[in-house]
Amino acid sequence: MGLTASGTKTILLVSVLHGCLFLIAGSGTEDPLDSSTMDISSRRFRAEFLQEWQGSADAPYFDASTPRNITGLVGHPVRLLCRVKNLQNRTVSWVRHRDIHLLTVGRYTYTSDQRFEAQHKPRSEEWALRIRSPQRRDSGQYECQISTTPPIGHAVYLNIVEPETTISSGPELFIQAGSTINLTCTVRHTPEPPSSITWTHGAQVINFDSARGGISLVTEKGLKSTSRLLVQRARGADAGLYTCGPNNAPPSSTRVHVLSGEHPAAMQQGCAKSSLDRITSIACCLLSLYLLRKPSFNLHFGT
Ligand SMILES: *[C@@H]1O[C@H](CO)[C@@H](O)[C@H](O)[C@H]1NC(C)=O
Ligand SMILES: *[C@@H]1O[C@H](CO)[C@@H](O)[C@H](O)[C@H]1NC(C)=O
Ligand SMILES: *[C@@H]1O[C@H](CO)[C@@H](O)[C@H](O)[C@H]1NC(C)=O
Repeated sequence: MGLTASGTKTILLVSVLHGCLFLIAGSGTEDPLDSSTMDISSRRFRAEFLQEWQGSADAPYFDASTPRNITGLVGHPVRLLCRVKNLQNRTVSWVRHRDIHLLTVGRYTYTSDQRFEAQHKPRSEEWALRIRSPQRRDSGQYECQISTTPPIGHAVYLNIVEPETTISSGPELFIQAGSTINLTCTVRHTPEPPSSITWTHGAQVINFDSARGGISLVTEKGLKSTSRLLVQRARGADAGLYTCGPNNAPPSSTRVHVLSGEHPAAMQQGCAKSSLDRITSIACCLLSLYLLRKPSFNLHFGT
């Protein structure tokens, strides 16, 4: 009802304005002082301005409030929405930018890819493109187009993400014996927060009530979930592979090296033995050098 009332109001306003413009244009032509110039300019005014103005009042347009950046999850249906006002007898299509592939035309799905589907309820302003089981490669730009001449488009960016687990320290962590191992595991892009996030050290599940003591775990669940593992007063036996395993995302691991001040040789060997990448080996060796240079080791370099 509200729509009808405002529609009527718009039509009335258009008619009134229309009339006014003709009066203005008309009065110009009757001016006896400057008739020839006025005649030309008013005709041009009438022709150009009114035509353009009528055209724009008539033309279809996109509702700019629909989201232009959609994030979806791998394997979970996602919908790109386009809302068109004043469509009249034109057609709305969805096009994939990557390969300029026509996906839908009006209510019909044009592509042979069964995962795509045109969605439209009769008499609604919404023209949606649904992707049943999106994959990472479906990420990119899509465009909703109206068949005006020239066609007008509304771009929507689709970002398809997968569940992801990361540990803040990266693949390797070097710490001094006696300090705290502090590992933060972050879980993103899961359909719902993980119901559990398990930490293991080697093959053993870490329990904060284990005989080791000094272990604490703080887990926060939400859009992005985190689990922080703190192991106080680290010693040699705490070294090794730590894995964070959410129930609904892939696991992530980090190798912890506990650098013992009393045994620089063992530590150096540890550096050489483990399969480190170049940067971590350099970091490890610099750290070894630094520790070796400390007076407590009583070592001297070529002096
Ligand atoms: C879309 O949003 C995501 C985060 O929600 C952002 O990372 C990305 O850069 C955005 N893309 C565009 C094209 O705006
Ligand atoms: C839409 O209707 C107008 C007349 O109202 C006509 O000139 C035009 O060709 C039609 N366009 C389509 C795509 O049918
Ligand atoms: C652990 O590290 C995080 C940053 O990664 C820091 O905010 C936090 O305070 C640290 N906790 C302890 C007990 O060191």
